[in-house]
Amino acid sequence: MERGGKASEVMRAFRTFLGTSDMMSYLAMMAPRLVELRRVLNATGTIYLHCDPTASHYLKMLMDAVFGPQRFLNEVTWKRTHSHGNVGRNFGSICDVLLIYTKNERYRWSQQYTLFADEYVEKTFKYEDADGRRWQSVTLRNPGRRPNLHYPYTASNGVTYHPHPNGWACDRERIERYDRENRLHFPTKSTGALRLKMYFDESNGVRLQNLWDDIPAIGSKAAERLGYPTQKPQALLERIIATSSSEGDTVLDPFCGCGTAIEAAQKLNRAWIGIDITHLAVGLIKYRLQNAFGDSVRDAYEVIGEPVTVRDAEQLANENPFQFQCWALGLVGGEVKRATKRRRQGN
Ligand SMILES: C[S@@+](CC[C@H](N)C(=O)[O-])C[C@H]1O[C@@H](n2cnc3c(N)ncnc32)[C@H](O)[C@@H]1O
Repeated sequence: MERGGKASEVMRAFRTFLGTSDMMSYLAMMAPRLVELRRVLNATGTIYLHCDPTASHYLKMLMDAVFGPQRFLNEVTWKRTHSHGNVGRNFGSICDVLLIYTKNERYRWSQQYTLFADEYVEKTFKYEDADGRRWQSVTLRNPGRRPNLHYPYTASNGVTYHPHPNGWACDRERIERYDRENRLHFPTKSTGALRLKMYFDESNGVRLQNLWDDIPAIGSKAAERLGYPTQKPQALLERIIATSSSEGDTVLDPFCGCGTAIEAAQKLNRAWIGIDITHLAVGLIKYRLQNAFGDSVRDAYEVIGEPVTVRDAEQLANENPFQFQCWALGLVGGEVKRATKRRRQGN
């Protein structure tokens, strides 16, 4: 608040509207952290803020204030669980929100794809070669007017084809190559339009949109399940990291829980920094990394903030017996079990 600026203005407005409330205290916790996260975000970096719909509208305004509305990239709706029936007089809440902002327009972007629906494949890739390869027939007409791509083409079937008045979509060498590779779709009438075969097994799939309903929650028997109450599916974090960073980049998860982003970053050859206030989380991260990458991974990272002397351990035991218990059990591969009540807001 003392620093002033847009974030401070938004916080003042929230305070007027929300008064003293849980939501206000949550936003007051988040605001300075978002300011610092913007500060440390690389010029090519992207921030994904995962939250639920009870807080997302406030957080979006706060993110607009911190990053600038022009740095808003998208809002993804992630279907985090399957439908449940016990919703009473309401719609089932099965989605979370990812608010995505960049530092500037130089952000990294690696296009992600999802699988075509079976029905779409049936309808669209309706032709089949003798060897069973499915394909669709696509136009060879240029979308714009290209006089330099205007030439007659005599194909391997002996027929000469003429382009649409716009011109062919590519030059003669390319069409000859398509012909040699049996990728031309000849019309039944010699006056018809020559087209191109596009094979299903060479398609990337559908460009990913901002509705993600293909990454299910971690099932009760899933191998990746660690029992951490807010654990996210690894596929979700892998998608985020693969989209917005390159090998060798650094991924920061400042609320890393049991380390889903950490394992995903390690797997995708990114450097990483994870922050969590609980020793339970730190212990689980060490365990999952060892499990996924073997003993040698222990030399690849450093843990800051754990007791390293008996005095440190005594201090932790005095200050926070529960955290001491989590830390001590982690030393022998043990795990604390306790009933946890999930409070939903930021995830
Ligand atoms: C929703 S969980 C993250 C779950 C994580 N994505 C995963 O897959 O395990 C949020 C985490 O933030 C941690 N946390 C809460 N307040 C924090 C703070 N001020 N600084 C760092 N971590 C904090 C909690 O201990 C919790 O593990």
